[in-house]
Amino acid sequence: MKQLMTRRSFLVTTSAAAAMVAMPRRLWGASGSKRQFLIRAEQEEGVVSPLLHGQFAEHLGSCVYGGLWVGENSPIPNIHGYRKSAIEYLKALGVPVLRWPGGCYADDYHWREGIGKQRAKRVNISWGNYIEDNSFGTHEFIGLCRLIGAEPYLAGNVGSGSPSELRDWVEYCNYPGGSKLSDERAANGSPDPFRVKYWGVGNESWGCGGSMRPDYYGGLYRQFAGYLHEMGGTEPFLIASGPSGDDIRWTRGLLDTTSPIMPDGLSMHYYSGGADEPTKFAASAMEEQFKSFRHVEDAVIHQRSVIDGYREGSRIGLVLDEWGVWDKIPEADEKRYGMLWQQSTMRSGVAAGLGLNLFNRQAAKLYMCNIAQITNVLQSLLITDGAEGERCVRTTTYYAFQLFKEHRGNTAVHVDNENEDPLGVSVSATKAAGKIVVSLVNPKDSEEVTAECVLRGVTPRNATARILHHADRNAANSFDDPDAITPQAHPARIEGQKLVVDLPPLSVVTAVVELN
Ligand code: AHR
Repeated sequence: MKQLMTRRSFLVTTSAAAAMVAMPRRLWGASGSKRQFLIRAEQEEGVVSPLLHGQFAEHLGSCVYGGLWVGENSPIPNIHGYRKSAIEYLKALGVPVLRWPGGCYADDYHWREGIGKQRAKRVNISWGNYIEDNSFGTHEFIGLCRLIGAEPYLAGNVGSGSPSELRDWVEYCNYPGGSKLSDERAANGSPDPFRVKYWGVGNESWGCGGSMRPDYYGGLYRQFAGYLHEMGGTEPFLIASGPSGDDIRWTRGLLDTTSPIMPDGLSMHYYSGGADEPTKFAASAMEEQFKSFRHVEDAVIHQRSVIDGYREGSRIGLVLDEWGVWDKIPEADEKRYGMLWQQSTMRSGVAAGLGLNLFNRQAAKLYMCNIAQITNVLQSLLITDGAEGERCVRTTTYYAFQLFKEHRGNTAVHVDNENEDPLGVSVSATKAAGKIVVSLVNPKDSEEVTAECVLRGVTPRNATARILHHADRNAANSFDDPDAITPQAHPARIEGQKLVVDLPPLSVVTAVVELN
């Protein structure tokens, strides 16, 4: 039955005891342009789930239409309507999980309008009042996920929807056959169930998802959850709309109300705002933006401790399903390319590195993370030059994810880093059979650093590394120069027990250390 304390078997293995081990205050820390870190290979800090590298796509600007989806009749090369180059790039990177259709849009999305031959036209009230023709609906989304190998994550409508509407969507997607809804799915071309595991129950219910109070939303969550059942062997993993940033009032108000019915996941959104336009960042604005990643990390730790304080709370997965940089977006770009279209620069690549590094460090505390958003909108992996444009460019953010792919599925290990400066070198390390993978990010734009990572508990043999770097914080991969910033081989050496890597200003490095 649903109304048990929790509905999932995921077990969080927090390493509170490990985290409390005091760091030695002798050798480790800054010395001129050198930074020393101690990698404790035996101190495990949880598995880096591939889901921490998840993505998010919303019906907003040119994320879906003109980005991922161009339609079958488009002159742009496509695979049954999906932009071919985007599919190839995403497939090559690997997208573990994709959240859709919002965002704010999710709470006014009526899934029936996006299936079958007759699609309803409806105004997108969240993003500019354009007429949404619903040509990209559930089948198209699942088709996209299958093409790029992503696990689908559907965000359900609580704001303007009903328990019955969401319950029917689950049946339509997951019931194998024989019911009216599953037969309709088959008639629409998909006899096989979609087997969707991840379901959001509302989005930002404190804001665009209904401006609710936490206790009111908590009551709705209980009601909705009661109708969302296992079908065809797929047990839905229900993700409640959680806090904005580190809003404890929301988390407590919600869980006090839902308890003892606990959601499987609690969503949390944390954007890193930027005061300047994407390609015109001043050093000071960049520093402010980078500093916010320390707050994101603190919020993850804090929220986790609050959730763990509830009976069965440790079974709730913390889902950071919207994160990334949100800059001041130039009107001209929005006019030309769509709402919230944002270029990714070297600064954005560094920001991605700061985020992905903190996810490694907090791997035991996080269940899933989805950067906003996969194409064209905010901190995206890909940009395209408008709905009619054929060009599709992999951004610095794409390449930061590529560098961190080495960590997926590995076990995070503890790194002692005495440097308290939020703009100091950010580091994380993971281990897998016969290797240690270390990622280092230098967020300073004028200071070169040599990182010396002492590896304790293992015997290093050799190391290779790749770097994403450009001296200009505002440099970007553009339509005219799509490969301006791509990962390159970078020297890394082993000196006894140490991995030594030079980090130029504004750089993201991943080193793979082979062990004896
Ligand atoms: O990602 C853009 C918007 O940011 C989403 O629709 C909403 O959930 C958040 O406020």
